[in-house]
Amino acid sequence: MTVLGIESSCDETAAAVVRVEPSRTVVLSDVVASQVAEHAPYGGVVPELAARSHLRNIVPVVASAVREAGGWEVVQAVAPTMGPGLLGALLVGLQAAKAIALSRGLPCVGVHHLHGHLLAPFLDRPQAVGSRPGFPFVALLVSGGHTALYRVDAPTTARLLGSTRDDAAGEAFDKVARLLGLGYPGGPVIDRLAALGDPSGAPFTEPMKHTRSLEFSFSGLKTAVSVHVRKNGVPPPGAALEDLCAGVQRAIVESLVRKLLLAVAQEGVAHAVLSGGVAANRGLRDAARAACERVGVALHVPPPRSCTDNAAMIAYAGAMLLQAGRRDRWDLNARATFPLEEALA
Ligand code: KG4
Ligand code: ZN
Repeated sequence: MTVLGIESSCDETAAAVVRVEPSRTVVLSDVVASQVAEHAPYGGVVPELAARSHLRNIVPVVASAVREAGGWEVVQAVAPTMGPGLLGALLVGLQAAKAIALSRGLPCVGVHHLHGHLLAPFLDRPQAVGSRPGFPFVALLVSGGHTALYRVDAPTTARLLGSTRDDAAGEAFDKVARLLGLGYPGGPVIDRLAALGDPSGAPFTEPMKHTRSLEFSFSGLKTAVSVHVRKNGVPPPGAALEDLCAGVQRAIVESLVRKLLLAVAQEGVAHAVLSGGVAANRGLRDAARAACERVGVALHVPPPRSCTDNAAMIAYAGAMLLQAGRRDRWDLNARATFPLEEALA
């Protein structure tokens, strides 16, 4: 089955064509137009700007993905992200997908954005850590909008194990970077500076360390950094700034890895997955790899391109829904957002 995926839930306009074969997945095209530069001056995503930018980009992005994949004849179904996300942004991709489905008489199935992230390791991309995971697996999904643990039993069955009570991990990276005047998005900059620093030079405590709960909390860490900066000022570029970034990153990473291991033990699974934009973090990848090795669990991490928002993961999840019999051939008026449990039922 060959599916055109369309993603427009936040600040990337993306389209991809993916061919799902019984034992492998071929990504025929994977186009992403990022709006990061447009939002950077505001220190975060501005919903109105995002919607307008999707409107400008959607046709060229879809056209180029389809052209690269070999033309419209290869496309057998359309799968847009239905939510969650910014409504004005989602509408652009959804309506484009419906128009394509209607005009070409193709099935169209709405995909939950997180379903895409959870299945990203099945894209069989080069530079992935580990091959595709076996079921069941536990996935740690860490992005700018979400931080959650899921148990995934099959391509269309997942259960939420725990999520953040306040900020997402990516949001914590972004907010700390803002406090330190490091620009947006903050994760990649903190990642780079942290690699040069010594975390013990700026000890921040690991959030929710003494509980076996699978929930996360990062707003206290952001407050701790803010108090530290008020007291000591923002360190100038150099060792002190690098140490501060290393300390913040260590606190975030330790919390994420501890909960991942707790979830793996609780669920008794042999496979773990990291996905979402923050899974690009080198500190997190290294710590998760070492921890999983220690407990004999196979770790699977898609390459950074498939961890951040993209349409190939949406196309793949759409193909799984269609193969499971979820087919909206003419009724294209489904709701824009719905809980993951319902989406994967
Ligand atoms: O998945 P994503 O592209 O978008 C959604 O939020 O859905 O994730 C973006 C988030 C941002 O918060 C960004 O700062 C973070 O991922 N991020 C990173 C790294 N690269 C991106 N965080 C830590 N280290 C990184 N290397
Ligand atoms: Zn995402």
